[in-house]
Amino acid sequence: NLIYYFYRLTLLTFIIYMDFNKLILKWYDKNKRNLPWRKTKNPYNIWISEIILQQTRMQQGVIYYNKFISRFPNLKSLAKSDEKDVLLLWQGLGYYSRARNLHSTAKYIYNELDSDFPETYENLLKLKGIGDYTASAIASICFEKKHPVLDGNVFRIISRIFEIYNPIDVSESRKIFKKKALDIMPKKRFGDYNQALMDFGSIVCKPVSPLCTSCEISSLCVAFRKNTVTKLPVKSKKIKVKKLFFDYFLIRNNKKYLIERINEGIWKNLYQFPAHTSKTKKNKKTLNKFFSKKFLHDSIEMELINSEFIEHNLSHIKIKSRFWLVSNKINIKDGIFTEMLDQYPMSKLMHKFIEKYGSKLSIS
Ligand code: ADE
Repeated sequence: NLIYYFYRLTLLTFIIYMDFNKLILKWYDKNKRNLPWRKTKNPYNIWISEIILQQTRMQQGVIYYNKFISRFPNLKSLAKSDEKDVLLLWQGLGYYSRARNLHSTAKYIYNELDSDFPETYENLLKLKGIGDYTASAIASICFEKKHPVLDGNVFRIISRIFEIYNPIDVSESRKIFKKKALDIMPKKRFGDYNQALMDFGSIVCKPVSPLCTSCEISSLCVAFRKNTVTKLPVKSKKIKVKKLFFDYFLIRNNKKYLIERINEGIWKNLYQFPAHTSKTKKNKKTLNKFFSKKFLHDSIEMELINSEFIEHNLSHIKIKSRFWLVSNKINIKDGIFTEMLDQYPMSKLMHKFIEKYGSKLSIS
């Protein structure tokens, strides 16, 4: 039985290989999206675009890409920049380690590799912030190397075309999908082919309501034939979401507010009002104690600004936040008192608060 199964799968791969990549490339030539980085094969531009697109949807990705490239048009300008300015541009995209890695890798290529961008998958993979996906994308798009990209689109298309039920969020499945993806690659146009799959996945073979009836490849699609398209791809489990409570202290000195640079974690090197974080909701007394200890100050007067929690959801964390206005005059040696919050990169959560309550507190 097992032998028969593998025999069928191999035969299927062969049949699909014969036509699949031809049809995908034909579809791409007719329907490809007009995206700003498709005018170039410069690895710097492709790198920036791919990292941004891991963070956001296409429409917003294009806006961020254009903003990024007009501020840092080439490797040298990024390498010579201040990390704070890179983070400022990245604001709102989330996953700020990606921005920190971009900056650090730009400096590395500029200083250590004499601006010579690596061209092979293996050498690209050695760079900080570049994993299998980005290395494959750059190697194929810029240097026509035969490496399949495996993003959500590709997992979805392959799972449907071959009717593969292995869960896509399990590392062992990755090997199966990667092998399949490689098996059905064309003999040339690797960069176009990879991008064709991504476009096809976003436009036709969509997660919900895929356009099967008008799909030019459906004759090759096992899931379509068996009417199992909506069951695929399979995910093994829901991700566990952690709940956190953040309490921020607004410490005022005339019109200025105290902000601190964050030293660690996902928001490292961004700025925020001093904060207390906890897995449980704390009462005012506990927060007051924390504050007194942190700022070596006696008990303080603090008043809640937002009557309802401001919520912020990251992929694995659900944050409920409160903001407290401290009315005591407090002398603080370290930290920055500023009126100009927009000069400092901050998380989306900070911006949510400022947007809603900033004008009441004369915060810009
Ligand atoms: N998503 C991420 N990178 C992409 C690319 N190069 N083309 C289309 N969609 C993408």
